[in-house]
Amino acid sequence: MSTTTYTQDELKALVGQAALHYVVPGEIVGVGTGSTVNKFIDALASMREQIPGAVSSSEASTARLKALGIPVLDANEVSSLSVYIDGADEIDGNGYMIKGGGAALTREKIVASLSKRFVCIADESKKVPVLGGFPLPVEVIPMAAARIIRQFAALGGEGAVRLKDGQPLVTDNGQVIVDVRGLKITDPLAFESEVNQWPGVVTVGVFAHQKAAVCLLGTPRGVETLSY
Ligand code: 5RP
Repeated sequence: MSTTTYTQDELKALVGQAALHYVVPGEIVGVGTGSTVNKFIDALASMREQIPGAVSSSEASTARLKALGIPVLDANEVSSLSVYIDGADEIDGNGYMIKGGGAALTREKIVASLSKRFVCIADESKKVPVLGGFPLPVEVIPMAAARIIRQFAALGGEGAVRLKDGQPLVTDNGQVIVDVRGLKITDPLAFESEVNQWPGVVTVGVFAHQKAAVCLLGTPRGVETLSY
């Protein structure tokens, strides 16, 4: 099998382009957030006459979509989406993911939950046997942050509020992110359900209940399609 030396940026562009095959002409598309999704949004401009618009998962993606002339609809205006295209920080062999490296996990989970099919676009570095190597992002209500960090400590995780320019990063929803290192998430479905119950947790960055149906993985061999 032939291999090519792609830069990580080229791999992101390859999977962003490949994701166009999953966009259904005539239908609104769900759009995630991040550097890989930015490549998809750029590619989506070539289909802008074929789709009514997009539902976006962040202010950043909304701005990029609009700049390319793609209408952005409010999530409340749609009852269902055929497909949601988004990246991941980690994806395991079942299509379970860690997301939220770009702090957009809550809106990402909302748009994913509206969608019939989650198509994950990622380069090969994101594929892992067990979730947890990437610090787990959790969006929390600020007054609960210290207690939630203590709850993660009891599970063996080391949490810290994410900073930007020396201050707590504030999400599009006005909340903060706790990043948790040192977890080994062997049962993502149970873990997501448990952490979701903790008071003050807005969204945990494990996407198991909203897992990927397909992953377009950028590799030196080209784009590989994994189905779950
Ligand atoms: C943003 C996310 C992104 O999908 C994730 O961080 C991957 O980003 P990138 O494509 O830049 O590696 O969850 O909240």
